[in-house]
Amino acid sequence: MKPAVVAEIEPLRAAIADARRKGQTIGLVPTMGALHDGHRSLIEAARRQNDYVVVSIFVNPTQFGPNEDLKRYPRPLERDLGLCGEAGVDLVFHPQPETIYPPDYRTFVEVTGLQDVLCGASRPGHFRGVATVVLKLFHLVQPDRAYFGQKDAQQVRIVQRMVMDLNVPVEVCVCPTVRETDGLALSSRNAYLEAGERRLATVLYRTLIEAKRSIEGGERIAAAIRERMSERIGAVAGAVVDYVAVVDAETLCEATAIEPGRPILLALAVKFGGTRLIDNLLIP
Ligand code: PAF
Repeated sequence: MKPAVVAEIEPLRAAIADARRKGQTIGLVPTMGALHDGHRSLIEAARRQNDYVVVSIFVNPTQFGPNEDLKRYPRPLERDLGLCGEAGVDLVFHPQPETIYPPDYRTFVEVTGLQDVLCGASRPGHFRGVATVVLKLFHLVQPDRAYFGQKDAQQVRIVQRMVMDLNVPVEVCVCPTVRETDGLALSSRNAYLEAGERRLATVLYRTLIEAKRSIEGGERIAAAIRERMSERIGAVAGAVVDYVAVVDAETLCEATAIEPGRPILLALAVKFGGTRLIDNLLIP
């Protein structure tokens, strides 16, 4: 069964108020559509833990840079609604850009420091757009829990920090990255890859796993890990490194040493042709 779909704020609020009147808990899965099994796993987690599940489908213009893929970002709405229906979503919020950002819109959220490193360094303004739209969605839906994928590790850190700093009453739930059988992390942007690029893209996960094994094998010097990861990816013709990072998982600052009790994030952004892919592994 297809879920109910609303585009405007008033019917969204009415549906939420109705669920609250019935004493239901609310889970939100914010998405930009082009849903895949990664999103399905978030929806399933929301379904398990809440009475009423809302999925937002909104390709958020403020998180795209001027030369990024806003226009060509996939928007297969009917297929997305089919997946939402199968996964038992109660309500899909699918607003138009003008509903979220009226012409005189002026307010933005910045999570300073965390937003400027890693992906933020090559995508200035991206996380300002993410934080702003996520906070707006939190205000509109007022969920008990909101679900994000570990695949977007920096986004997760930024949302967690924003929720903490601004005392937003929502539990941020982080679900594991869902991968293809060869390790490639699911992403809506994988659809852009040509067959050859798709084969090369497996280097991301292999590189992360090798780095994790080297840490398990006793490597403690972050620079050495970083260098081996860069070499590994640099050896693949057609892969252009944006960043290779070994950072403190909480502050996202470059790590110098791997220390007990300080979680590390191994993170990568690599371009294959016109497609930029990211992946990461959290080393607890
Ligand atoms: O991860 C995404 O799909 C987006 O960044 C999000 C969280 C829906 C905000 O637009």
